Amino acid sequence: MSLLKNFLIWVHLLAMAGVFGGFLYGRIFVSADQSYQEIIQALLKKTQYFIGLILISGFALFYFQIQTALQGKISLGDIFKDGVTHVILTKLALLIAVGAFSGIGAKKVREENYPAAEKMWLLALVLTSIAVLLGVMLRSI
Ligand code: HEM
Repeated sequence: MSLLKNFLIWVHLLAMAGVFGGFLYGRIFVSADQSYQEIIQALLKKTQYFIGLILISGFALFYFQIQTALQGKISLGDIFKDGVTHVILTKLALLIAVGAFSGIGAKKVREENYPAAEKMWLLALVLTSIAVLLGVMLRSI
């Protein structure tokens, strides 16, 4: 059980680093030239796989947390009143928004509307940063 949980945490963290690192790399290191446009396209597409991995591993980790709480005789109602659950649900909302922004961004790239794609990229990066902070917070409570 704890081996599986550790494995899931690693998948969650590596996928998170993939999304965050991908968005950040694009913002900081890539300059506005021809290859820049290809990189935007590649990053916006690749991050979608990582977003899927975060979602699956996140749900599995949440399931484990609920199971552990139920074994400790805590009711389902109490679990949903708990602050940790709210942080997780906020992360879920953020991840859905990140997925939407990177999806819209990828579409804008296909339409060759690069300024709009960049805006989507920036929004996705900001929301991912907030989700990372919330994730780290989950570990420290
Ligand atoms: C962009 C979105 C997300 C980011 C950047 C993110 C990041 C993180 C980070 C950094 C941690 C701390 C891991 C550790 O040190 O143990 C974490 C933990 C966790 N995340 Fe996420 N996460 C995201 C989305 C989600 C979603 C959508 C869910 C659930 C539906 C979720 C569920 C969890 C759970 C349950 C834990 C606690 C694991 C434990 O038991 O220690 N996360 N997340």
